[in-house]
Amino acid sequence: MQFGTIYPENCIETLKRMDDELIDMTITSPPYDDLREYKGFVLPINEIARLLFEKTKPGGVVIWVVGDRTLNGNESLSSFRQAITFQESGFNVHDTMIYAKNNPIPSDCGKRYRQCFEYMFCFSKGQPKTFNPITQLIKQEKAFKSFRITKVGRNDLAHDHVAPKERKLDNIFFYDECNCEKVLDYSESEIFYYNVGTSSSRDKVAFNHPAIFPEKLVEDQISTWTNKGDLVYDCFMGSGTTAKVAHLLERRWIGSEVSSEYVDIATQRIDPYLSRSSYPQIG
Ligand SMILES: C[S@@+](CC[C@H](N)C(=O)[O-])C[C@H]1O[C@@H](n2cnc3c(N)ncnc32)[C@H](O)[C@@H]1O
Repeated sequence: MQFGTIYPENCIETLKRMDDELIDMTITSPPYDDLREYKGFVLPINEIARLLFEKTKPGGVVIWVVGDRTLNGNESLSSFRQAITFQESGFNVHDTMIYAKNNPIPSDCGKRYRQCFEYMFCFSKGQPKTFNPITQLIKQEKAFKSFRITKVGRNDLAHDHVAPKERKLDNIFFYDECNCEKVLDYSESEIFYYNVGTSSSRDKVAFNHPAIFPEKLVEDQISTWTNKGDLVYDCFMGSGTTAKVAHLLERRWIGSEVSSEYVDIATQRIDPYLSRSSYPQIG
C-alpha cells in the first residue's frame, strides 16, 4: 500500500489490504441514491462501514457527505439509514453537520422549498483525537456593551474587555472571514456558504466528473480533524478533490475509485500539484 495513490478499484478491495487502525480520517461522498447500481457497481454500505471501522485509528473520524433523493414526493432518507449502519458498526455519530450551498441547482421543487444543503455526518471511533476548530470573528463589539459593578461603582465596559473576539463555527458550515488556514486561492471569500459545481474549483478537468466536492469544504474538514502528516482516505475519490486538498495541506492520502474514466480525470487534475513533493511508502 502506497501513500499518494488512487487505487483504481472497488474500495472494498483497498480497505481489505490495509493494515488495521491505519487511517486518521476518511472524507468521502458516496454515490447518492443510485446506490444499489452505480455504473454497474453495487455499494455495500454495511461492509464499507465495518471495514472503515477496522481501518480507522482510535480517535479517527469519517466525514460522510450525503444527500437524499426525492422520488414521487418522498425523500429516500438513505443518509440516515447509512448513519445508522455506521453507528451499528461501532462508530459514534459524533455530529450531524450540514453544509449549505451558495448556488444550489435551480429547480422547481413544487410545494417544497429549494433543496440547498447536504449532510456531513461525523462518525468517530471513540472521542475524536484531533479537533482544530475553525473560528469566526464576533462582529458585534460596537452593538453590545457589558455592564459591571466595580470598586468605583457601576460601569459600562467596552465589549472588548469582557468577551472573546472569536468563537467556533456552528455545525451548519458556511464561510466568510473565518480564521482558518488558507492554502487555496478563493476570490469569492466574502460569499456565505459553499460554491458547488464549476465555481467550487479552478481545475477545469474536474468538471468532467458530475459530482465534485467543493474544495473549500474538504479543506475545512481536513483542517479540523487532522494535523500535518496524518493519513486521509477517500473511498470514492471521483475527480480527486480529497487528494488535491490533502496534499496541499501536507497530509498523506490514499484513495479508491472504481471507474477508470474518473481515475484518469483525477490523475490529470492532481498530477501538477503532486509533482511538487512526494510522500514515503507504507505497509
Ligand atoms: C459522489 S462521487 C464522489 C466525488 C468526489 N467527492 C469528488 O470530489 O469528485 C462518488 C464516486 O464513487 C465512485 N464509486 C462508486 N462505487 C464505488 C466503489 N465501490 N468503490 C470505489 N469507488 C466507487 C463513483 O465512480 C464516483 O466517482
